[in-house]
Amino acid sequence: MAEKIFSINHSDASCGARTGTLVLPHGTVSTPVFMPVGTNATVKALTREDLAEIGFEIILSNTYHLYLRPGTEVIGAAGSLHRFMNWDRNILTDSGGFQVFSLPQFRKITDAGVRFRSHIDGSYHELTPEKVVEIQTTLNSDIQMQLDVCSDWGIDEKSARKALDTTDLWLGRAKRAWDEAAEKGYRGKLFAIVQGNFYRNLRTRSAETVIEADTPGIAIGGLSVGEPYDVFREYLAFTAALLPREKPRYVMGIGTPEYILDAIEQGIDMFDCVFPTRTGRNGHVFTRRGTFALKKAENRLDFGPIDAECQCKVCRQYSRAYLRHLFKTQEILCSMLASYHNLYFLHDLVLHARNAIEQDGFADFKKSFLSRYKEKEA
Ligand code: GUN
Ligand code: ZN
Repeated sequence: MAEKIFSINHSDASCGARTGTLVLPHGTVSTPVFMPVGTNATVKALTREDLAEIGFEIILSNTYHLYLRPGTEVIGAAGSLHRFMNWDRNILTDSGGFQVFSLPQFRKITDAGVRFRSHIDGSYHELTPEKVVEIQTTLNSDIQMQLDVCSDWGIDEKSARKALDTTDLWLGRAKRAWDEAAEKGYRGKLFAIVQGNFYRNLRTRSAETVIEADTPGIAIGGLSVGEPYDVFREYLAFTAALLPREKPRYVMGIGTPEYILDAIEQGIDMFDCVFPTRTGRNGHVFTRRGTFALKKAENRLDFGPIDAECQCKVCRQYSRAYLRHLFKTQEILCSMLASYHNLYFLHDLVLHARNAIEQDGFADFKKSFLSRYKEKEA
């Protein structure tokens, strides 16, 4: 039996949503949880104080990027990724599978692993399931992901099956490598990933393999890869229903309020996405009445906050007119403030979702949040 790292606090009577607690080497994490992405050992434009002040208990980083730069040797010499970036709470690292597959450059998948060229200097590298476990162990990741093959929306069943066969093979090898690391004292937890593209038979088969592997947690991969929203929802619900209730469930790569609320409703506990920070750097901000572009002309003389109900330090101190000016003059502060607000907004959304679940009111909460969120800005 896998070590139990998750307990359910309350299951909502109105839907599949639940609140819970994850116990990890760098502290406990209340779920559902949104994890901000710090690809290069930094959540872009935010300091560690910002992240702690908002209340994040776990952030995500990427094996692929850190392996290439600064390199495992540097982070190993620092002691861990936590020490290197001076973040003493939890870190989940993605395995690099998804990042390699989103590269335009050369890559070749075999049963052995994936060969690819660095996006930085074109040099050749190979990641294998074992090597990816070893790198994440050196980083001392609190949660590490298996190497997987994330396939695109729209591929035929034969190609999807081949990608899944490789993912399944790699899971067995990742599990053995992780068991060995654990025997040597590593305390981070391995999560297996359900793939299978948009074929129910393949998703079912993948879920069976993953359940059998009995890792401490389970992720759903291969969603939000270009499929229509209805297809996302269908496969999210279908796949979530295949998974054991008692394990933490993580949907990889989702980060808009609609997708997050759908996931919570289906009993998903964890999610991550670059969307809030990336969109913030592009001058787009979340509000309870939908997103808007800071540059829009109506903001020129609007001295109110981004969102009057938001309690974040950006909304308490700065106006839309000022932020529009910072955006138009391409000031660095604009990225910092917009990213901070967007992450605060999602953190706050999830906090309210947790409260609603505890009152058996998540379904109503979701409905009323989305009805306002989808109204067009006044
Ligand atoms: N990030 C978003 N989707 C995926 C996925 O399917 N696999 C991995 N490893 N990371 C992801
Ligand atoms: Zn705010």
